[in-house]
Amino acid sequence: MKRRTFLGAVPAMLAGVASTAFGVSPVLAAEATPRLRSGKLSRQLAGADGATEFWGYNGQLPGPVLRYRKGERAIIDLENGLDQLSTVHWHGLRVPNPMDGVPFVTQAPVAPGQSFRYEFELPDSGTFWYHPHQKSFEQVGRGMYGAFIVDEERPIEVDRELLWVLGDFRIDLKTGAHAPFGAIVQHAQEGRLGNVVTINGVPAGAASVEAVRSGERVRWRLINAATARVFRLSLDGHEPWVVAYDGQGITPHRPRDNVIVLGPGMRVDLVLDLMAKPGSVYKLRDVSAGTVLTTLKYRDEAPLRTAPLGASMDLQRNSFAKPNLKKAGLHSIDFQGGDFGPPAIGAIDGKEISYHDMKSKFGLAWTVNSHVAAEDAHEHQPLLVLKKGNSYIISMTNKTAFDHPIHLHGHFFRVLSYNGEPARYEEWRDTVFMEPWSEIEIALVAREPGDWMFHCHVLEHAAAGMMGVIRIA
Ligand code: C2O
Ligand code: CU
Repeated sequence: MKRRTFLGAVPAMLAGVASTAFGVSPVLAAEATPRLRSGKLSRQLAGADGATEFWGYNGQLPGPVLRYRKGERAIIDLENGLDQLSTVHWHGLRVPNPMDGVPFVTQAPVAPGQSFRYEFELPDSGTFWYHPHQKSFEQVGRGMYGAFIVDEERPIEVDRELLWVLGDFRIDLKTGAHAPFGAIVQHAQEGRLGNVVTINGVPAGAASVEAVRSGERVRWRLINAATARVFRLSLDGHEPWVVAYDGQGITPHRPRDNVIVLGPGMRVDLVLDLMAKPGSVYKLRDVSAGTVLTTLKYRDEAPLRTAPLGASMDLQRNSFAKPNLKKAGLHSIDFQGGDFGPPAIGAIDGKEISYHDMKSKFGLAWTVNSHVAAEDAHEHQPLLVLKKGNSYIISMTNKTAFDHPIHLHGHFFRVLSYNGEPARYEEWRDTVFMEPWSEIEIALVAREPGDWMFHCHVLEHAAAGMMGVIRIA
């Protein structure tokens, strides 16, 4: 089968200048059965005195880009070259439950030296990604993730694509070693924030350069693979269009205040018309951290065109069952816990436990409907039991002092409202960003029988109890 790869020009690496441009990872799906071999790899980060040992796939950071066309079948072998258990979860893809990659819930974890074959159809186009679901705060935090792109049958017309996988690592720059994982103070607060943000595995910063051509239209896919960092992106002098959230097309629109909020696990597809003069430079900023991620540099080349390309940027939509809001069952889910909030009281194995004991005895800090789940729990009592084919509205309340990107496996849900205000557009997602003390209503159709994980994608929060399953029967 023929697959487009967009690999054409691999950008030249200028001496001493990190280039973030798309093309750093080969596209593997052109092989009939791509293999993802997990293992250690060593990289010398600019500014670090020693090499850093990352964990990744196929010796790459991030792992290879898996790219298919809508309607194709993916067959992918995971070979676990780590010395601990692992799995692969296909974030956002509507796969059959046994292919969902959740240890002890949808499959037995893959032991060191063992392999597992994942096989599923690709009914939906979009920007997705993959990562382990075993001890994910550490495995993802050490670099195990990659992009998974499914092309539309008729993609929108652009001159070029950019694919950015954003990462965030917490590194001791003296030795190059990762800072310790698992500190309860991180798990109970904003997660394990890093000090080295990466774009496609290369450190971001003012010295990183993205070269562009005046007049071109770029489709820019962004994936936040950081365990905890929330990006709030703003590009000086430009106003990109949002055309998809989490891979699902949406009416093209300008983001509020020209800032793109991307919590862990979330994706956005942007269309950017690069209409400034040749030779000009602009900064891409993360306004929440007050940092510059990269410098956009217009080449000294004659403009490709002088007015933006007129073509439509409205993506072909995926087809899936839409909830019937009039007949929907209603549920509510409360998130509680974390430091600086009203003390959460949770239950472990049906026994009530104080917040203090949750933290000090179990390393847990968050509850979902008063339920605390440990990531390595072998059994999860479902938070909700839904009936296959039925529609549901779930109203979620964040009763904590922290941000939480909330993710449901195996489904797209529609975001109906934010804090009582209806969403501006018909907005489908698999991960929705909840600000502190906020309320969001989502709607969905229960798709396929099985236990589907529902958790915060700040992976330290998930590990500290902010996770559960929604059972479809
Ligand atoms: Cu991206 Cu349950 O995960
Ligand atoms: Cu969270």
